Amino acid sequence: MNPRTGRFAACAAPAAHDKYEFEKMIYPIVIYGNETLRKPSEPIAPDYPELKKLIEDMFLTLSEASGVGLAAPQIGKNIRLFIVDCTPWGDEEPACKDYKRAFINPEIYAASDETGLFNEGCLSLPGLYEEVRRPVAVRMRYLDENFVAHDEEFDGLRARVIQHEYDHLDGKVFTDHLSPLRRSLLKSKLLAFAKGKYRCSYKAR
Ligand code: NI
Repeated sequence: MNPRTGRFAACAAPAAHDKYEFEKMIYPIVIYGNETLRKPSEPIAPDYPELKKLIEDMFLTLSEASGVGLAAPQIGKNIRLFIVDCTPWGDEEPACKDYKRAFINPEIYAASDETGLFNEGCLSLPGLYEEVRRPVAVRMRYLDENFVAHDEEFDGLRARVIQHEYDHLDGKVFTDHLSPLRRSLLKSKLLAFAKGKYRCSYKAR
């Protein structure tokens, strides 16, 4: 997920001597129109090779793109894994402070009746922001990066980013939640992504 403000642009860069290793670990982000974003993702087995390295690389990729969430299909892998880094929201919501987590094989099994609107963006649809209605709270079971099981309730901005990233694992993007009218108004923009006509400050494909 892509936060709307540009105020996170000045993220700390790694030390210069790490540059080679650093660049090697950044994945290009898959842009709308690529079929990977539309495929349902597969559960991850505990023996999945180098999963911790992959999660670290995803955090680096997310930070380079100044995003708050990234799902594995967005780096071309159809596996049930997403990460969130809510630290950019730490000032406005205390629960987001230093909140960085990986979620493996998540299952959202309950959602609040109450819904809310939020202006969402996505690293796979650069520059596009739309008001999206979602439940304000969800309950989710998931495994962390050590395959420890958790069952938690999320609300506020964390519920928002978690639902956005979870959608990616089922081949959905945030524009799927818009009204048919709104989607038809965005048709040419969405087609432009698929044709490679977009601009973003991070590596993309
Ligand atoms: Ni997204």
